[in-house]
Amino acid sequence: MKTLTVELAHKRYPVHIGRGLLAAAGDCLRDCLPGRRVVVVTDEVVAPLYLDTLLRALASPPAFETDVIEIAHGEEHKNLATFERICTRMLERGVGRDAAVAALGGGVVGDIAGFAAAAYQRGIAFAQLPTTLLAQVDSAVGGKTGVNHALGKNMIGAFHQPCCVVSDLDTLDTLPPRHYTAGLAEVVKYGLILDVSFFDWCERNLDALLARDEQALTFAIERSCRIKAAVVAEDELERSGRRALLNLGHTFAHAIETGLGHGRWLHGEAVACGLVLAARLSARLGLIGDAEAQRVAAVVERLGLPLEKPAELSAEAMIRRMSLDKKNLGGRTRLVLMRAPGEAFVSDHTDPAEIEAVL
Ligand code: NAD
Ligand code: GLY
Repeated sequence: MKTLTVELAHKRYPVHIGRGLLAAAGDCLRDCLPGRRVVVVTDEVVAPLYLDTLLRALASPPAFETDVIEIAHGEEHKNLATFERICTRMLERGVGRDAAVAALGGGVVGDIAGFAAAAYQRGIAFAQLPTTLLAQVDSAVGGKTGVNHALGKNMIGAFHQPCCVVSDLDTLDTLPPRHYTAGLAEVVKYGLILDVSFFDWCERNLDALLARDEQALTFAIERSCRIKAAVVAEDELERSGRRALLNLGHTFAHAIETGLGHGRWLHGEAVACGLVLAARLSARLGLIGDAEAQRVAAVVERLGLPLEKPAELSAEAMIRRMSLDKKNLGGRTRLVLMRAPGEAFVSDHTDPAEIEAVL
């Protein structure tokens, strides 16, 4: 097991990465949770696979008192209705402020369970037990929680840091290929944002990653978490612009996800397409060369992820959605672009005509 630490001004917490960790989760959670009651939030796909292992771990002495709340799986359920159901169940079961939420699942479970923990009785502790590649490299670390609104992705939420993250690599063995490759988009993203040597490594090791080679995968997850932890430590609440870099490709991605209806494209698929579009736009604006933009497209193509926006979504509709992005200030569309692979920056104003041209 490897343990990284996320160091924040007011808090630090461990990110454990390794095999067989769910079965040992009782020890990790006992070290970091305030009380002895845990509400496990999971989804209907993950529950039959991993819930028993977790509950057995939490029952080992000194045992936790546990409750389970199971939600429907999929992005279309990451909404206020599911959030309310989770809160209602916690109230019905008399969950108090000394209890904690444990999010067992992918990014959808992590985001919504984390948001319930942030809001329930004005905030209770929570732990992230991510079971998808995307959640292990990105969503479980850093404390962004929330739900979607029909008008925008992740538009309602809170910053609420977990007490610990337990990433059991064994869980990835059951992850369907489509979700696995979608998670690789977020891995590649880290290299493109601020670590060109990691992007080079991803390019060289793409076949190994696609084959789920254990060594390559473990390295990619650790390196991604290290990069994310460092960025979050510098700008926890996304105020300085540093953390906004983690949104490379996401303004396009969120417009695609919301425009199509949440759940039609996976988040990682939309991010992959967003990376290509951000690179293409960076090239169009003369920030990077065409060959560098082509490198990004080639990686996304080798992953079998989309290079173009969905045909059914017009450029005009995309731009309208992009104008609602959370990063925007004073009515101007702010985008994360690249000066080079490994050197992303926030561009304060991008002419919509240029965006339309790359769409
Ligand atoms: P997901 O949570 O929908 O999980 C993907 C699918 O795989 C689901 O059907 C789930 O039931 C199933 N699943 C989960 N683990 C499994 C396993 N081990 N074996 C078999 N099936 C499994 O999707 P995701 O890609 O994990 O997360 C996407 C979400 O994460 C989006 O809502 C996105 O906005 C959010 N996100 C949040 C952050 C953040 O910082 N909070 C960062 C990136 C993405
Ligand atoms: N996934 C972007 C962030 O955590 O800031």
